[in-house]
Amino acid sequence: MSTYQTIEVTKLTPVIGAEISGVDLSGKICDRQIEEIHNALLEHLVIFFRDQEPTIEQHKAFGRRFGELHVHPNAPQDLPDHPEILVVAADENSRHVAGEVWHTDVSSDAEPPMGSILHMSIVPPDGGGDTMFASMYEAYERLAEPVRQMIEGMTAFHDSAKAHGYRMKQNDRADMALPSSEHPIVRTHPVTGRKALYVNRGFTTRIRQLPAPDSDAVLEMLYRHIETPEFQCRFRWRPGSIAFWDNRATQHRALFDYQGERRYGQRVTVCGDRPF
Ligand code: SIN
Repeated sequence: MSTYQTIEVTKLTPVIGAEISGVDLSGKICDRQIEEIHNALLEHLVIFFRDQEPTIEQHKAFGRRFGELHVHPNAPQDLPDHPEILVVAADENSRHVAGEVWHTDVSSDAEPPMGSILHMSIVPPDGGGDTMFASMYEAYERLAEPVRQMIEGMTAFHDSAKAHGYRMKQNDRADMALPSSEHPIVRTHPVTGRKALYVNRGFTTRIRQLPAPDSDAVLEMLYRHIETPEFQCRFRWRPGSIAFWDNRATQHRALFDYQGERRYGQRVTVCGDRPF
């Protein structure tokens, strides 16, 4: 357990999530605070900040304190001067929103992002639009031992076409790409050394070592296990809230229970490394 001197950290649940206070993302953030924020992220897997109004430049600069910024391979570039900003938006006409299926961001990349930092500025007026986060450490550790033994050493394919194939029709990006990659089903977190389950409904298509019907059955069993409520926390956004999650140890799902209302946020995503 880390101790904190420059920020306050309040757990949301015993398993996952903590709210951070004592830091202003539109002001100067010293190296010690960055180190403590990073420690809090490693310890709680997703951390939340309230009442933050960083400019786009400050948001990007905050992300860069943790690594290089990722440019999404196929999301629309709504802010052409800021390709690193992913806009998360729904309006009166939206019938679906991004992230409605449990996933970890862009696991189809060969080196998927280590973390994502989403700043929300518009939320639905009557509530709704919460985001669920789940601990993949907990999911791995709570698997029955025979299942852990079965999946140890297995790999799975993650395909952007499963999550984002519909974007090909939109044809709004000249450099549109739909990457696919093969990753271990159980990954080791490169910093904490803990093992985490690493398959998700959004991107994973097939376990390499199994015939398709068996792969489908095992993946469905793992997805249902991953979605156990006790592995989760639920975050209620307010304008000015920020969530920073560790993609190597979590999955998340955006709830779309506010059809007909607006919700708007901007995300920066920090590059990661090849899962092992
Ligand atoms: C995402 O980054 O997957 C979207 C999360 C959200 O809209 O809450």
